Amino acid sequence: MEFGVWTGGLPTLSVECLVVGVFEEAELGAPARTVDAACGGRLKKLLARGDFAGHAGETLLLADLPGLKASHVLLTGLGTRKQWQRKAWRKAWVSAASALNRTRIASCAVALDRPDARQLDDYYLGRAVAELVGTVLYRVNDLKTGRKPPPPALRKILAGPVRKAAPAERGLTHGAAVAAAMNVQRDLANLPANVCTPTYLAEEARALAKRHGLSIKVLDEAAIRREKMGCLLAVSRGSRQAPRFIVLEYQGTKKEQAPLVLVGKGVTFDSGGISLKDPPGMDEMKFDMSGAAAVIAALTLAAQLRLPLHVVGLAAAVENMPGGNAVKPGDIATSASGQTVEILNTDAEGRLILADALHYARRFRPAAVVDIATLTGACVIALGHHHSGVMGSDEGLVHELLEAGRRADDRCWQLPLTEEYAEQLKSNFADFANVGGRDGGAITAATFLAKFTQGLAWAHLDVAGTAYQSGPAKGSTGRPTPLLAEFLLRRAAR
Ligand code: BES
Ligand code: MN
Ligand code: ZN
Repeated sequence: MEFGVWTGGLPTLSVECLVVGVFEEAELGAPARTVDAACGGRLKKLLARGDFAGHAGETLLLADLPGLKASHVLLTGLGTRKQWQRKAWRKAWVSAASALNRTRIASCAVALDRPDARQLDDYYLGRAVAELVGTVLYRVNDLKTGRKPPPPALRKILAGPVRKAAPAERGLTHGAAVAAAMNVQRDLANLPANVCTPTYLAEEARALAKRHGLSIKVLDEAAIRREKMGCLLAVSRGSRQAPRFIVLEYQGTKKEQAPLVLVGKGVTFDSGGISLKDPPGMDEMKFDMSGAAAVIAALTLAAQLRLPLHVVGLAAAVENMPGGNAVKPGDIATSASGQTVEILNTDAEGRLILADALHYARRFRPAAVVDIATLTGACVIALGHHHSGVMGSDEGLVHELLEAGRRADDRCWQLPLTEEYAEQLKSNFADFANVGGRDGGAITAATFLAKFTQGLAWAHLDVAGTAYQSGPAKGSTGRPTPLLAEFLLRRAAR
């Protein structure tokens, strides 16, 4: 995709399509009025007939209007003027991009009205144009055998109206990189678990590392054993698939800088193990490696944008299965940190692999550690599908993630992480249990992780409700890659 900004006269722009907005009750937006004037009032005439009301999400494609260099105009509903905000703008551009994607139009100029600059400045306008079109044009890497639809026709987009070209262009570059990183995550997460095994995930990470100039080290089962990752191995032992521990590193600074360490849960399939899950929806547990995929994606983004940062990505890749050798409820594992864990529920496996992965992070003397995991159904009960959960030992870091989420429109919401919850993890037989009952399940999971991050500046993102969608649009959403991208971009700027 080629991106740029447009300045000056819309009627004389050399693109195939002008994307303009109409507010509720058939009121032309400002750029649409310019277009209307150039084509002798054709738009007003059409609206007067009642053919287009301007409801949010509505689109109408017009062709061959006089007085315009562009062959097409796409009318896009903006909804009510009172609610013309960043969110509404995003929705309008998504519907316009989807409408364009159903045509063979190859180039367009985005000329939707701008909300207040505090809502959407030049940089975020560019960012949103590129990022959202990337998500709209994304196609699932399916294994359907029929004839493949032709690739998307859209190849060139000019963003506007802008006050200054430079920040908008920077936004476009960043937005395109975020979309590319989201696609890395989505492609990996959408694969079926019989293809995307821990070994496969590690090989894909290797290929991506090579392409982006990242260093990579992959620990196989023997190396994982040498690291004494007893909790990770307890999860893995019920599966015929060998585990992998992936270590990616991006060095974008000359001088030695304490790294940011991102840690991802990479359960390539979570059957629950001996504490087997209910059959309905179990297929969706192929998405249980979304955290690992997001970490891999974030490192490719740091490299693509050459961010002046030092970032390490750790991904613990395992399959959780109920084989004859599987870990059993009541079994006790010794973590890499030396602490013992009574595994009361084998379906609480994410926190077990993260315990060992988080401990591994210590050796980098990190400036901050953020783990990303589809960790608990309880987080979905608490927050639904709009916000990821965030908790941590470092309030400053948690606030950075909250703000990054707001900026990137990939929001998270903080849950409390106070010492009382540790009561629920008490065990008679080991240092603690891996589950603490149903109450506050997302928090007790984070409380468990906190046992392994003592003394680190650490935060945890529970993306169980946000990393993928169920229903007819089942698939990976690419979240929280936009949030992580914003977090890295902000760290790079400070
Ligand atoms: N991968 C699941 C969490 C999950 C649930 C993600 C639903 C997405 C949608 C995790 O490994 C798990 O099974 N958690 C258990 C924990 C429980 C046994 C304490 C859960 O949430 O039920
Ligand atoms: Mn589980
Ligand atoms: Zn899981």
